[in-house]
Amino acid sequence: MDWGLQNRLSQIIKPQDNRALMLAVDHGYFLGPTEKLENPKNVIAPLLKYCDSLMVTRGIQRTCVPATTNTPMVLRVSGGSSIIGEDLSQEDITVSIQDAIRLNASALAMSIFVGSKYEYQTVVNLGKLVSKAQKYGIPVLAVTAVGKELGKDERYLSLACRIAAEQGAHIVKTYYCENFEKVVQSCPVPIIVAGGKKIPERDALQLTYNSIKGGAVGVDMGRNIWQSEHPVAMIRAVRSIVHGNANVDQAYDLYKKLVSEGPKKKNKSNKPTLKESKKPENKPTQNKSNKPNPTKK
Ligand code: R5P
Repeated sequence: MDWGLQNRLSQIIKPQDNRALMLAVDHGYFLGPTEKLENPKNVIAPLLKYCDSLMVTRGIQRTCVPATTNTPMVLRVSGGSSIIGEDLSQEDITVSIQDAIRLNASALAMSIFVGSKYEYQTVVNLGKLVSKAQKYGIPVLAVTAVGKELGKDERYLSLACRIAAEQGAHIVKTYYCENFEKVVQSCPVPIIVAGGKKIPERDALQLTYNSIKGGAVGVDMGRNIWQSEHPVAMIRAVRSIVHGNANVDQAYDLYKKLVSEGPKKKNKSNKPTLKESKKPENKPTQNKSNKPNPTKK
């Protein structure tokens, strides 16, 4: 594998433990100002140091993410439809490779809609994007199975993930399902699991745990973090599973402990403090936070 591609991939899937925690904040590209993500800048600021990478659109990256961050950006480059439009699956590539490079993207993300009216268009777009991105050593993450009408069972997800990998996607993002192991086994590239709609915190931690146990490299979670009443506590609890090998009880205990401690200091400017920008928690072995560090299960 080319050095650049390998280097960018290792920014997203941490080589220390082959795990990844992505924070998804790209929802506005078809949902507009969705609940609790009305002000992305305020949402992103306190969470940025706890994720390995941020999944974002170029508009939000430019306006709401400090350019001084060392958090890698996974740039969503597809779009074109909205939640009130005719068909969510009618997407095209909306960002040029030049602009993605200008934004220092560590990976490009786009959706494919297998089984939908626009299956052909989105799958061909994925293949074309991989060809372009590969030229510059930029990995592509394919998002599958977004859309209410699509079945999210093992059979469908295996099909969609495999098609994404066959087109050359370097990472595939999909949903968790029963027999998830089978989806992972038939996909030759790493799978990362989307959080889905907001569920109780413990259930979201269970989803994280099950995903990892089923063979996913991690989660790309959005609503279950920033729609929580306590987003920082939640992302730290998720992180304790992804990188700290915590089980669900340990992670939920951490969540409750962080909630009971409350925010330490108000950062009124919504800018990360100097201390926060250091991001010491990227290394799972450096357990300097309040995270549990249980032995591997
Ligand atoms: C959906 O198309 C977006 O790419 C989101 O990034 C994705 O659904 C993950 O976010 P959530 O955890 O809120 O489902």
